[in-house]
Amino acid sequence: MAISSTQAVPDTDAVPRHVAIIMDGNGRWATSRHLPRTAGHVKGVQAVRRVVEACGRRGVRYLTLFAFSSENWRRPAEEVSLLMRLFVQTLEREVDKLNEQGVRLHVVGDMSRFEPRLQALIADAQARTAHNDRLHLTVAANYGGRWDILQATRAMLSQNPNLGRDPQCIDEAHLAQHLSMAWAPEPDLYIRTGGEQRISNFLIWQLAYTELYFTDQYWPDFGAAELDTAFDWYSNRERRFGRTSAQLRDAGAR
Ligand code: FPP
Repeated sequence: MAISSTQAVPDTDAVPRHVAIIMDGNGRWATSRHLPRTAGHVKGVQAVRRVVEACGRRGVRYLTLFAFSSENWRRPAEEVSLLMRLFVQTLEREVDKLNEQGVRLHVVGDMSRFEPRLQALIADAQARTAHNDRLHLTVAANYGGRWDILQATRAMLSQNPNLGRDPQCIDEAHLAQHLSMAWAPEPDLYIRTGGEQRISNFLIWQLAYTELYFTDQYWPDFGAAELDTAFDWYSNRERRFGRTSAQLRDAGAR
């Protein structure tokens, strides 16, 4: 299981090992051009392609994208169904390209609300890329951080009912092993485009010590150059994980 940043100090590098992104601003990108909001989502898929390729080239090992939150069902029905169609189309069209790039696809979230066809496509795309290890691309769909903690708690207690009788015994690892991204290290860098400075119920457990980067750029305008700017900013962060600057200097750490 991945190292917990609150239990031990993880290794860090100049290039983030795990990047998590909230791809915000698709709607505003479109409306500022007098286009329907959905056009912004279509354009957003092109930005996803650029960022996946750039992350692969830069040596990022895990890229996690928030495509649809558990709260996004509140949007107009037409927009929700366009997002679902885009998701289906992207899965159908991109799996071969992901394989060529050595990308392993994971989808996390509550799949039970998706149509059976989409659920089957997701299972097929995950199986077809399961042998890849260069870049783990995780798409969070119908995902919410609180949902994740709740489902992990339920799984922990149903697998080990004794913990419910003796809650003092519960430690981080008992719960964390059931989170939907238990296999990945915690994100080093969180990027949110579109000018908002919020976590919006993304990986709320895992972001405990993540560096948070916000940019006003809209997601459809984001690409390799913008990613490099975020990486430059990240490489200048002092990641103390609770320690002092003096301790870091003494240890020769970044
Ligand atoms: C937020 O922008 C974006 C979303 C809710 C959807 C993101 C989806 C994509 C980029 C396309 C599909 C992705 C994959 C991986 C297939 P917003 O609509 O909230 O923009 P706004 O804040 O300007 O209204």
